[in-house]
Parts: sequence; structure tokens; C-alpha cells
Amino acid sequence: MADSRLGFGIVGCGLVSQFHGAAITSSDRAEIVAATDLDEERLSRFIESYGGERAESFEALLADERIDVVNVLTPNAMHADFAVPALEAGKHVVVEKPPEMSLAKTDRMIAAAEANERKLAICLQVRMRESIRAIKSAIDQGRFGALLEGDAYMKWFRDTDYYLMDDWRSKREQGAGVTIQHAFHYIDLLHHLMGPVGVVDARMTNIAHPQVQLEDTLKAFLYFESGAEGVIEASTALWPGKPPRIEINGESGTAITEGEVMLAWDFRDERPEDEDILQIGRDTVAAGGTGAADLSYEEHMWVIEDMVDAIAEDRDPFITATSARHSLEIALAMYQSADAEEPVELPLQSDSVF
Ligand SMILES: NC(=O)c1ccc[n+]([C@@H]2O[C@H](COP(=O)([O-])OP(=O)(O)OC[C@H]3O[C@@H](n4cnc5c(N)ncnc54)[C@H](O)[C@@H]3O)[C@@H](O)[C@H]2O)c1
Repeated sequence: MADSRLGFGIVGCGLVSQFHGAAITSSDRAEIVAATDLDEERLSRFIESYGGERAESFEALLADERIDVVNVLTPNAMHADFAVPALEAGKHVVVEKPPEMSLAKTDRMIAAAEANERKLAICLQVRMRESIRAIKSAIDQGRFGALLEGDAYMKWFRDTDYYLMDDWRSKREQGAGVTIQHAFHYIDLLHHLMGPVGVVDARMTNIAHPQVQLEDTLKAFLYFESGAEGVIEASTALWPGKPPRIEINGESGTAITEGEVMLAWDFRDERPEDEDILQIGRDTVAAGGTGAADLSYEEHMWVIEDMVDAIAEDRDPFITATSARHSLEIALAMYQSADAEEPVELPLQSDSVF
């Protein structure tokens, strides 16, 4: 392998590691140097599939000078436990979503990245989807005019076995539940596209998974600081599971995406490129409705390539931890609002909801 490739180290070789493994090995600017996991079988399977060496411990991974970037792919409530020492050891870090389960732990990661002048990216790869980039660009160009409404509908299905297959998947404090685990991408998208949220009013229920003590269904109103409003409906109870739908309405434009497909693209100021934008995603299908295996690793490739570029160009990664922090704050506000059965204002006074 060429010496110019950036070396990646992986901590956590579970479900999502296959996307990182495939993305890194597909890049001609990155390589997997080593991986570690407490689970021997998962670690062996990862190394057999994607190469790299077995690191005997996380500390051994950090001591490996060939590793430039550490990808933290552990359960949600233990991201900072790995990201902070990795940043302090001089590694750049890609953390899976959500950044953490508390704002305080997220802030520790942000502070460690700043203090050690390392890059820290959160893997919220849906932001990099072509249809979403087209919408974001049109918003930034003012084509929507004032934004009025931003909605996300994620009607997915996960059976009870999904919640029981790993201990952490049924424990809210460890990061389980449809809001923080599945809807997080779409909470983040609405924040990314519509701007900061000022008030959240959410309700949560469990309509199809009585064996677990978690919400499998979320309904929330979002009141953006700009004055725009929005709705999120998200569930893992709705068989068979369909691609998520995002609807953005402004005073002079409307865009609707379903999965990767641009379903509607209407602007008062029509432009020649609109025809092509309306064709985005028409030849693709998957978007996670029925399970993670449904997803392609292409979006993870963008995150990996962006990290390689961010290091080479000494700039921020596209998806910064600071931007993901407010998405986490929105999700935490949803839990607080559902518990209190009343609207919650941001910024949060306390983030201890779990
Ligand atoms: N970006 C996406 O679309 C996406 C999709 C799925 C999961 N995720 C995120 O990825 C992360 C992992 O999810 P997953 O589904 O792969 O979970 P998982 O349970 O399948 O994998 C986590 C792995 O971490 C390992 N681990 C736990 N503690 C460890 C320790 N102390 N040292 C070393 N290894 C340890 C476990 O043994 C397990 O193999 C979560 O944050 C999740 O939210 C993101």
C-alpha cells in the first residue's frame, strides 16, 4: 500500500463497522491499520473482511504511530470514553452518531479536539446525501425565500430481536430508543437545513415492542429560531418500513425527498439545472427502512474522504461536533418534553435526562 495513505484504527467492530471497513478499504487515500473490540469473534470477522491488524487493547491502538485517525464505533454512551483519549494521543477522530448521550460529554470531546488541534467529525452521513446537499445549497442561495416549514417522517420497522441482540440496544441511558438512535439523523437534518431550534414539544410511545422499556415512536413539533415550524414523526414500529421523507417549504420553494430520491423540486424562479436535480436518486433504492443492511456504504465514504481532505487542507470536517451538539440538544429536549408532557425551551438548563 502506498505510504501516503492515512492510517485508520477502529474501536468497535459491530454492525456499523462494516460501513467504515468498506468505506476505508474503497478509498485509495486511506487504509485500515488495526482494530480492537472486546468481542473476539466480531474483531476477527472485521479483520478477515477488511484487513488490518488485531490491536490487543485500545491503549495499544493509540500507541500505534501508523494510525492517524481513530473511528469510534462503540455504543452511544461510550463515545467520549474513546474519543477523548484518542484526541489527547494526537489522533484525529471520527465518532459515530449521536456524538454522545450528554452535552457535557460532547463538550469534553470538542474541548479535547481544540486543545490538541485535531480534527473531530461526527458520522452524520445523511447530510452528505446528494438530495440533501441540493436542498442545502438552494437554501443558502435564498431560493426558498423565508423558510416556513421543515418536516421529517421516518416510518421504519425493527423487530423485537433487534432490541434484544445487544445489551445496550434496550437501555435508554446507553443510547437506545427511536429518538436518539434512529431519528437522530433526521433531527440533525432538520437542524442542518432549517437552522437552530428554540422550542420542542414531543410525545413518545411504545406501540409495538412491549418487551422493551423504550419509546419506539416519536412525534414532535419543532419551533425554529427563525420562526419556521416543523414536525418529526419517527417510528420503528411500522412494518415493513419505508424510506424517510423530508419536506422543506419556503415562501418561494418546496422540496421533498424520499430516501435518496428527490420527489418534488418546485421554485418560483425556475432554473435550467432544476430538471437534473429532480432526477437525483431515481436509480437508487435503499435508505434504512427495514434495517441497517439496507444502507450502502457510499455515504460513509464521503465522511472518510472528507476527513482525509480536512487533514490535508487543515480545515474543519464537513460535519463538526459543534454542529452535531445542537442536534443532540434537540433530541435531549425531546426526551425532557415527553417526560414533562410540555414544551421545552432551548438552550437546555440541564442535560441529565437519562
Ligand atoms: N451512521 C449510521 O447510520 C449508523 C448506523 C448504525 C449505528 N450507528 C452508530 O454506531 C455506533 C455503534 O453501533 P452498532 O450498531 O455498530 O453497535 P454494535 O453493538 O453492533 O457494535 C458496538 C461494538 O462495540 C464493542 N465494544 C463495546 N465496548 C467496547 C470496549 N470497551 N472496547 C472495545 N469495543 C467495545 C462491542 O463489542 C460491539 O462489537 C453507535 O453509536 C450507533 O448509533 C450509526
